[in-house]
Amino acid sequence: MKNLQTIVLSNEEISPGYYRMRILAPGYQQLAHPGQFVMFRVRRSLPPLLRRPFGIFQIGFLPPDCEGMPEKEFVELIYKVVGAGTEVMRELHHGDRIELLGPLGRGFEISDPAGDKILVGGGIGLVPLYMLADSLPDRSRTRLLIGGRSRADIITVTEFERLGVATHVTTEDGSLGESGLITRILERKLSKYPKAQVYACGPMPMLRAVEAICAAREVPLQLSLEALMACGVGACLGCVVKGRDHSEANPQYLCSCRQGPVFHSHELDWERLHASVEGKEQA
Ligand code: FES
Repeated sequence: MKNLQTIVLSNEEISPGYYRMRILAPGYQQLAHPGQFVMFRVRRSLPPLLRRPFGIFQIGFLPPDCEGMPEKEFVELIYKVVGAGTEVMRELHHGDRIELLGPLGRGFEISDPAGDKILVGGGIGLVPLYMLADSLPDRSRTRLLIGGRSRADIITVTEFERLGVATHVTTEDGSLGESGLITRILERKLSKYPKAQVYACGPMPMLRAVEAICAAREVPLQLSLEALMACGVGACLGCVVKGRDHSEANPQYLCSCRQGPVFHSHELDWERLHASVEGKEQA
């Protein structure tokens, strides 16, 4: 984990309300794992904004510049503008100074790299799944199911396709792909690939539905929770969720920032989870 004083390299709108920010991030190629996140803070804001968590979309290297400088590592975040913090972020340009704390948290585990995988992303929940897909050795056995309210919520699908991942899109209003919820396609795919491992990230109603489908079929599921986070390092306890064995007499709290954000579904108390996780911290 590093606390970098660094700069924005680019910040572009890729779909109405969705932005993609590239940030100079030395050392991330070695440090970051699929599913991890960073805490982001704008340095010039007055009063200073709190850090906010964002899943890592991808990491990479810039090409050497014309003066023969060595390659520079970058990290890319994708965010949706939903409140004051992300309103400030979208005004950032090349060269603006920011702070980046990370990479943080527990990422995805890949126990059977060559086996069938189904990735399920709801809207901005697709973000941590790209680095996961990119890390898999046999992407011909990986399917991405991406759902959103409308066409504007369906982002970066062509980049998954360039990795060799088969993609399936649903929108609730039918403006792109199949009309309806992504969980209907998940049921179909699991009938065809019953031994697949499922990885999911998205809004809580979607995660609950995915969990119910996977539990009924005894399919292993890892999911990335979009929990509210203030510190990102286990200090504030603002991100706790209840574990499967939680009870009044024997409390079991799990920090989403340190023990997650990725959990195996069997680690969590699904009865109480809906009340303790409220959506991505991007406001
Ligand atoms: Fe502070 Fe997790 S965000 S403990």
